[in-house]
Amino acid sequence: MSSPQKLYEGKAKILYTTDEPSMLLAHFKDDATAFNAQKRGQIIGKGEINCAIATELFRLLEAEGITTHFIEQPAANQMLIRRTQILPLEVVVRNIAAGSLCQQTGLPMGTVLPRPLVEFYFKNDALGDPLLTRDRLLLLELATPEQLDELNQQALEINQILKVFFNQCSITLVDFKLEFGLTPSQELILADEISPDTCRLWNQTETDPQGRVMDKDRFRHDLGKVEDAYKQVLERIVALKQEPEKDN
Ligand code: TMP
Repeated sequence: MSSPQKLYEGKAKILYTTDEPSMLLAHFKDDATAFNAQKRGQIIGKGEINCAIATELFRLLEAEGITTHFIEQPAANQMLIRRTQILPLEVVVRNIAAGSLCQQTGLPMGTVLPRPLVEFYFKNDALGDPLLTRDRLLLLELATPEQLDELNQQALEINQILKVFFNQCSITLVDFKLEFGLTPSQELILADEISPDTCRLWNQTETDPQGRVMDKDRFRHDLGKVEDAYKQVLERIVALKQEPEKDN
């Protein structure tokens, strides 16, 4: 047995090698950053909560036919994943205007978009993760035209599945960010995580624009009760997953 090597440390996760070269172990951290790491802090218990939420969402997506890097959750804050070559792209899907879309277009926050908007950002901290046009993305060879079409298609399918699921939890999926990786056989699969760190989630049972926020915007904008909001998201997901069992 070779001892695990730290392969990469990101803002929210550390990746370790395992005995199986095609698999990595992801450790979810309590560390939180925002605005390209200009704001730093910790959200106590976030590692375990996000790992649990991402596990449930990956299982849901797999059950709906989406291939992800998820293999299993061997510990509360650990996820065993397939090793992929991560594309340097952040694929953002938006259902409702918020965040940078409002800042850059003037659309009022909360505007329901007529159809989901898929955007590509260059995952490059030094450049501040800029929004890309299709032509810039192709110019930089960050993906092939075929991969771009597939990313677009997968992002929309994932959005549809997650939107319906969160709605059943009385949560509105405002927007979210995805990352994809290439397997050795050049298959594009969903990677990274889906959690309150990477989504905007609004509580449907709250009308107050700040009170309804259940995601990292609570940390970004110092709204308080960050842990409570993340925990509430997990509790609702778990409760919903248990519902069919109750019926049987
Ligand atoms: P934005 O409105 O700031 O562009 O964010 C869109 C969505 O992407 C939102 O759900 C938060 C998520 N996101 C990340 O997961 N990582 C990031 O680095 C950024 C900027 C946004």
